[in-house]
Amino acid sequence: MHDPKPFGLNELREMFLSFFESKGHLRLPSFSLIPQNDASLLLINSGMAPMKPWFTGEQEPPRHRVCTCQKCIRTGDIENIGKTARHGTYFEMLGNFSFGDYFKKDAIHWGWEFLTSPEWVGLDPDRLYPSVFEGNETTPADDEAFRIWNEEIGIPADRIFKFGKADNFWEHGSGPCGPCSEIYYDRGPEWGCGKPGCTVGCDCDRYIEVWNIVFSQFDNDGEGHYTELKQKNIDTGMGLERLACVCQKVPSLFDVDTVMNITHKVSEITGAHYGETPAKDVSLRVITDHIRSATFMICDGVLPSNEGRGYVLRRLLRRAARHGKLLGVNEPFLYKVCDTVIHENEGHYPELRERQDYITKVIRVEEENFAKTIDGGLKIFNEMLKGHQEKREKTFSGADAFKLYDTYGFPIDLTLEMVEEQGMTLDQDAFHQLMEEQRQRARKAREALGDLGWAGVEFGKDVPETQFVGYGCDTVLDAKVVAIVAEGQQRDEIIGGGEAIVVLDKTPFYAEMGGQVADHGVIACESGRGMLFEVHDVQKNKGGKYMHYGRLMEGTLKVGDTVRAQIDLDRRRAVMRAHSATHLLDKALRAVLGDHVHQAGSLVEADRLRFDFTHFSAMTAEELAKVSAMVNEAVLAGYDIVTEELPIEQAKQKGAIALFGEKYGDVVRVVDMGQGYSVEFCGGTHLDNTAKVGVFHISSEFSVASGVRRIEATTGMASLEVMNRNQELLFQAAAALKAKPGELREKAEAAMGEIRQLHQAVEKFKAREAVSEAERFLFAAHEVGGLKVLTATVPDADADRLRKMGDFLKDKEPNVVAVLAAINGEKITFLAACGKEAVQKGVKAGEIVKQVSAIAGGSGGGKPDSAMGGGKDPLMVDNALAMVDNVVSMKLGL
Ligand code: ALA
Repeated sequence: MHDPKPFGLNELREMFLSFFESKGHLRLPSFSLIPQNDASLLLINSGMAPMKPWFTGEQEPPRHRVCTCQKCIRTGDIENIGKTARHGTYFEMLGNFSFGDYFKKDAIHWGWEFLTSPEWVGLDPDRLYPSVFEGNETTPADDEAFRIWNEEIGIPADRIFKFGKADNFWEHGSGPCGPCSEIYYDRGPEWGCGKPGCTVGCDCDRYIEVWNIVFSQFDNDGEGHYTELKQKNIDTGMGLERLACVCQKVPSLFDVDTVMNITHKVSEITGAHYGETPAKDVSLRVITDHIRSATFMICDGVLPSNEGRGYVLRRLLRRAARHGKLLGVNEPFLYKVCDTVIHENEGHYPELRERQDYITKVIRVEEENFAKTIDGGLKIFNEMLKGHQEKREKTFSGADAFKLYDTYGFPIDLTLEMVEEQGMTLDQDAFHQLMEEQRQRARKAREALGDLGWAGVEFGKDVPETQFVGYGCDTVLDAKVVAIVAEGQQRDEIIGGGEAIVVLDKTPFYAEMGGQVADHGVIACESGRGMLFEVHDVQKNKGGKYMHYGRLMEGTLKVGDTVRAQIDLDRRRAVMRAHSATHLLDKALRAVLGDHVHQAGSLVEADRLRFDFTHFSAMTAEELAKVSAMVNEAVLAGYDIVTEELPIEQAKQKGAIALFGEKYGDVVRVVDMGQGYSVEFCGGTHLDNTAKVGVFHISSEFSVASGVRRIEATTGMASLEVMNRNQELLFQAAAALKAKPGELREKAEAAMGEIRQLHQAVEKFKAREAVSEAERFLFAAHEVGGLKVLTATVPDADADRLRKMGDFLKDKEPNVVAVLAAINGEKITFLAACGKEAVQKGVKAGEIVKQVSAIAGGSGGGKPDSAMGGGKDPLMVDNALAMVDNVVSMKLGL
């Protein structure tokens, strides 16, 4: 038996794809992780999933033989990922596919050839065991596959295993499926459980499945009905990380070269290293796996949210973030690992690097949001935990879990995991019961609101339309409470403590509209004492009533009360800055990019804005700079902002641009900046002079949909904060390079240049040094049949250094035969070089190195004048070198 060759993961991927290209397959890039037109799947989980229509014959494939390396995510049991070293959520599946083209025979022969041929993976055939489907009541035993393995490939019958539907029938959700034949690799008894009867199919780590060939001939309608497909297909799957595990002789996918490099990066940031404690290993694995999944998901367009794929992503990021906390990292850090994930994978997935900024940003924002949630929630969780422990309770109550979820936004799966970490159980039934009750309450509330006009039905006649007075003032002293809604019902009175909706006869609060967020503030007693209602959202219903959402903090509130309504003026001012800046931005975009620019959505918040607009390509740095300059010039010009109500015709004559995507009445609000510089229809709140925008700063520009770009920008204080932060970074970077900020660029370029030069100098030095060492070896050469034979061990040399030495020796001494060996840890490299005369006499480097490597437990080969090989047994190196004289003598026929 021989050991596998230690191929790297990226190398194996390329080998597989080139192998199947050589068998007439079309190589396609990986499909997106987001399934297209397939509601049965949340995320792509196998190589075949994106190709279902090609299997069923619904669509014509680009070629009838295709091979891919598909990114896949399986999220069956996220809670257990990391706890064992076996599973991850992200993996890559290599596959060769036939759509009504070749079938069992070729699929089996090629799988075998790729795995066993010394030109390809070269696994030891004696370590491989195939399995076939044993048959059941609906599908007969796969005698044909058995025969091919037995008669054509030559595997003895007792080494071919027969399994049932659980192992040898492949299906996932609805769609094409069929019986399959798998290939298992025996890693050797040292990986086994040692139990009697441990053999292929055992759960332990000894026999692992590396290849699956599905004879895809049925279509499952998702409810267990199978129909024969029009065509017979082949769907194969080879888990890339698994094969890499086998080749690299490492215990788990987390130890595979490219994956380990990600863990190294996590270790660098967290200071925790693999193998220190079992708990740290779990955290390192969780982070490594989840950041891989997250990076690829975001790259393919998934965004964190509370449902579907977005929720899977959110769970992965939050779980990884929390394990970061367990390792003592209390600030966002996952986004820093992203670069390593990209670095390790960009060769095959170049889109990662293109979207790096975007991916990093999404991760960072999610981490920051989660940090806020978790800090609050963790404290409460710990208090609750203490309460339970003091009472010696083993069960964490559903009510507490619900409170964490409902009040502190703490995800339930996280609570569950943390509870289990304490060796306790969570009363999930009670939790779900409370969730259900809340859903019922919310439904009732919606119905109740419907009665109040929320769903378009008018309030009773006694509830007037709210008069909005917020364009001119920020406080109304004599507002009257005309309706109150609490717990889904209309009330006459509420008492402190709960959430409620309050309707007033007039209000300074702006309701969320036209992309502008609602005002926040308070509704209080006229006297300012005794009653306080905090407003955190305002919505206008169809009947024109302003619904102030909030919480009654103290006192009582009755319909008919006269109250003081007061908005948070600082926040409103910041919103106005952002809104006025949005108009200036719209103006500048049209001026710089052209009239095809139209608003496609906008969001105006406190000192932050988001503006979506139609445009066909990414903006250049120059265009962005122009737009930014134009807005800031309009700010500095200090244009007066005048808002008028005009008949619609007159407004149009003024050239007003319709900003709202809504219908306009006969009289419209027109916002004019700088007497015609910018004129727009707008219902929002604005400054009275553009100068009050402060600094306008564009933070990003990117695509949100095809033909739609988004600009995110800040104004006022938020811009100052960004600039201060940038300034600080600049100073820190300058300090690190011991330069003044103004000299930073030159210094950095000079430092890079110097590094390059040093690098070249080191290379030159190494080459010279290799030559002089080789020259010394020549002195020690001895004569065999007229040739100068020399052998030597060169400690710590790499292949390149050996090659340099060999090239020098063979050019300098035509009758030299040199064999050099380098030992690097376990790894041995041999180089043989033969001068011209030696080659003419029949002594060939390729042959010598082959024999020498074999003695050290490896293999090698190459050209007659220069060849390389490898070995595995350092203790045999001297013996191997000692053979060289004999080999040369034999070749010379001495
Ligand atoms: N579709 C098969 C699998 O995923 C090849 O194993």
